[in-house]
Amino acid sequence: MKNKLKLMLPNRKYVESFAKGIKEARKENAKPFTTHFKYFRNVKDFPIYKKRVENDRKGVNLKKGVVPSTRYWAMVGNKFVGVLHLRRRLNKKLRRMGGHIGYAVIPSERRKGYATEMLRLGLKKAKKLGIKKALVTCRENNTASRKVIENNGGVLQNKIKEKGIYKLRFWIEI
Ligand SMILES: CC(C)(COP(=O)(O)OP(=O)(O)OC[C@H]1O[C@@H](n2cnc3c(N)ncnc32)[C@H](O)[C@@H]1OP(=O)(O)O)[C@@H](O)C(=O)NCCC(=O)NCCS
Repeated sequence: MKNKLKLMLPNRKYVESFAKGIKEARKENAKPFTTHFKYFRNVKDFPIYKKRVENDRKGVNLKKGVVPSTRYWAMVGNKFVGVLHLRRRLNKKLRRMGGHIGYAVIPSERRKGYATEMLRLGLKKAKKLGIKKALVTCRENNTASRKVIENNGGVLQNKIKEKGIYKLRFWIEI
């Protein structure tokens, strides 16, 4: 099952499944989905959403302090199951908190090993961009995300506190 999971750029062919997944994810509002929620409300928004994702990937019209990044859909067969966000490099803020890669799985598809596989594939994409060591962070109390990182060889560097939240910073040699 796991080796059927693929990371792909947003694709019109699977937009119905994406719309369904996003609708489900919206109820929970997990951070890695935020941009997807903002630019995609229904199927009609797909061209605008895709343009925005493309611009972020190519580094076009980025806000000050935002680095180029790629947003992938995680697909199992024809089913959208989650998102992965790969930042091309770190700036000061990302080096402290955000890291190179963020990911989220829609609630109904969790605990199937998908996030672990998504990060594995995301690291392969990062390697192709020339990243040799990836920073991946999670909240201290996010047991699932911590396991996803450790499953992929993450080595804890430290724990930092910001706005009352403790975050763990892991490095993964690619
Ligand atoms: C964190 C998240 C991505 C994990 O996705 P997932 O597909 O369920 O993860 P996996 O199936 O690969 O599970 C990884 C490990 O975590 C464990 N796990 C999953 N959910 C868990 C939970 N709620 N509590 C405890 N352990 C959990 C799994 O059993 C597995 O353990 P194992 O490696 O010992 O077998 C998902 O819960 C999610 O999208 N959360 C909201 C967004 C988020 O927190 N993103 C990460 C921050 S960038």
